[in-house]
Amino acid sequence: MKKKILASRLYPKAGIRLLEKEDFHLTLWKKERPMTQVELIEQARTHHALLCTLTDRIDRHFLDDCSHLEIISQFAVGYDNIDIASATRLGIPVGFTPDAMSEATADITFGLMIAVARKMFFLHKTIINGQWGHFNPTGNLGFELKNKTLGVFGLGRIGIKMAQRCKNAYNMDIIYHNRTRNKAAEKLLGAAYVDFDDLLAQSDVLSVHCALTPETKEIFSRSAFKKMKSSAIFINTARGPIHHEKDLTRAVLSGDIWGAGLDVTNPEPMQPDNPLLFIENVCVLPHVGSGTIEARKQMSVLAAMNIIKFYRNRRVPHIVNPEVLES
Ligand code: DGY
Repeated sequence: MKKKILASRLYPKAGIRLLEKEDFHLTLWKKERPMTQVELIEQARTHHALLCTLTDRIDRHFLDDCSHLEIISQFAVGYDNIDIASATRLGIPVGFTPDAMSEATADITFGLMIAVARKMFFLHKTIINGQWGHFNPTGNLGFELKNKTLGVFGLGRIGIKMAQRCKNAYNMDIIYHNRTRNKAAEKLLGAAYVDFDDLLAQSDVLSVHCALTPETKEIFSRSAFKKMKSSAIFINTARGPIHHEKDLTRAVLSGDIWGAGLDVTNPEPMQPDNPLLFIENVCVLPHVGSGTIEARKQMSVLAAMNIIKFYRNRRVPHIVNPEVLES
């Protein structure tokens, strides 16, 4: 019997073509919007494998309902939308797409850093609002990044690429905090490992690149922002719930920190009247870190190959829970 694969969104063609070449029965969800939870469960019930992404809620309830699934392949490096413990309990391997978007996400992070330091989004809006007055010798001032200190929270694939950009472009010193030390990255970047409080106190730019876990949820809240330099920029291109949004808003408005650059918010989408969008030193993007043709193509290929190789020889090249295939 042909295996039935459900693709939950309109994924890039490169990966879909690979799936089409196999002897699968492929169902493509062709609407622009994600499926509702009811639609997702209803569709998944009649399929063997699911190609999904961060807008799909693969929680305990979904998994208990769809425990027949043979593989779940996530089109993303982050997988906090999936209850991995439940998938593992049910013996369902979960694939993901690491590294495909590291360059693209590091670019967006680097861009946000400069945009915040120079208030770019706000200044763009002044033109739209007809407020471009005369050249102002003392107005609209940002600051330079040369020789500043970049603090990376979560020095992994994307954090390393951001640090390389900052070092090469601005000779920035790199400090970082991780659950475990990354000695290879220390050597590569001359990065110094510091504890969390030192990361907060010493960073001129603090960039978040960790996974969203119970430990990192809202780790950047009022007490953390209070420990940062009043001249610091906070950047989050990882997951919105890692910072406490109201506390961040207060921290920027009260001058506890200089500004913030966000590619992720909580919730997503952010409402258009969110106060953060009206602050001079804040730049927000709609979760587009991996949004390049190259990255999305590669993500679709990796996600498709996780399914294809699983059915060819029970191997998932990029797997979150390898233990389910070891038994
Ligand atoms: C990811 O891969 O986790 C990004 O957030 C979306 O590409």
